Amino acid sequence: MQKSERVNFGSKIGAVLAAAGSAVGLGNIWRFPYETGNHGGAAFILVYLACVFMLGMPIMIAEFTVGRHSKASTGRAYKVLAPGTHWKWLGYLGVLAGFLILGYYSVVAGWTLEYILEAGMNGFADKKPEDFVVAFQSFSKDPVRPLIWLVIFLLATHFVIVKGVKDGIEKSSKVLMPVLFVLIVVLVGCSLSLPNAEKGLEFLLKPDFSKVNGDVFLGAMGQAFFSLSLGMGCLSTYASYFGKETKLGNTALSVGVIDTFVAVLAGLIIFPAAFSVGIQPDAGPSLIFITLPNVFQQAFSGVPILAYIFSVMFYVLLALAALTSTISLHEVVTAFLHEEFNLTRGRAARLVTFGCIIIGVISSLSLGVMQKYTLFDKGFFDLLDFVTAKIMLPLGGLLVCIFVGWYLKRSVSYEELTNGGKLKAGLFNLYIFLLRYVAPVAIILIFINELGLI
Ligand code: PHE
Repeated sequence: MQKSERVNFGSKIGAVLAAAGSAVGLGNIWRFPYETGNHGGAAFILVYLACVFMLGMPIMIAEFTVGRHSKASTGRAYKVLAPGTHWKWLGYLGVLAGFLILGYYSVVAGWTLEYILEAGMNGFADKKPEDFVVAFQSFSKDPVRPLIWLVIFLLATHFVIVKGVKDGIEKSSKVLMPVLFVLIVVLVGCSLSLPNAEKGLEFLLKPDFSKVNGDVFLGAMGQAFFSLSLGMGCLSTYASYFGKETKLGNTALSVGVIDTFVAVLAGLIIFPAAFSVGIQPDAGPSLIFITLPNVFQQAFSGVPILAYIFSVMFYVLLALAALTSTISLHEVVTAFLHEEFNLTRGRAARLVTFGCIIIGVISSLSLGVMQKYTLFDKGFFDLLDFVTAKIMLPLGGLLVCIFVGWYLKRSVSYEELTNGGKLKAGLFNLYIFLLRYVAPVAIILIFINELGLI
């Protein structure tokens, strides 16, 4: 087996931002708002927060432990840490999940490119709210246009992967993440100043517990895994590039907080805006592509140049946030093929890109001309989203808990968490307790509940 060259991220902050770059993406700005909208608002967010901090944080530290200790990408890490066992299948499960997610994620990432072009050509000017609905529908159902963008987006990802990821990932994350953040804060301000914004705020902040059911739990858990890039070895692969001095606990907390913050802020942009223009919060995956162009037009109606600048910048940043996530997904699958089958990195990357184009094309067409082909009542795009986010990622997370909590020696976890130093016994025990009992039991209960067994 050919060993890949191991380059570490250059600094602690670089490691945090690269992991945050993987985590922050369409999951926060596109998926979180529509899942929140579909599941009734504030109560969903509370369950989501519980999932992030009680399941997400310990599992993220566990994935970091696997990655840094094995110094291998997820496809090989379990072979290094548990040679000759079936644990290798956990690595393979992650690789498959990464491949499938990249396939349909690229479709939405491609949409952001269309919107950059549209905004850049001043196509949003003078449009009424209902025009954006029609425009999005006809674009996303088009049999050709979204496919072109999908291919372009995957080729951009491919390019970065082939050209030396580490430098690319770390450097770009360091610039892009802060810019994205500033822009999001400005947009929250714009959105909150729209008429009727308070209805959106109420939807986001006033929980209606009568809406909490099993679906809300499964949705919130799936969203937490998806948004934090957990359960498929993405972050464990990145952790294999962490230096010795990187603190796993602090890094996980920073990534979790940044990711959650961006998601909640995205909600603060979308919902006041959606209520303001009378768009239903449960509009689904089209939500941000319809409400946001509206926000720009309405918030800056007196100063069209600002509306123009903000729309272009927003979609550029959304595309770049998506890119730092697609890179991390691509890296997991490419590194696996490269290490496992002795392919060159270039050839491995080409196979991944080609495979994802096929998955992406079918996903995209399933929203339009192939809409009538469904399985379990879902089109291909929705099916991939459901199977990966709501089944494969939580299942991967559950197995990581069992692996690190029960199989791996405690001393390994201790050493990785403390970087060879000391940690308050209480904190370490809390981590192990969450990992061994709380997280696995919660995941299993949510699964069983969804199957209708309790
Ligand atoms: N976390 C990314 C997002 O929110 C998506 C992703 C999922 C990336 C799983 C890597 C692994 O957009």
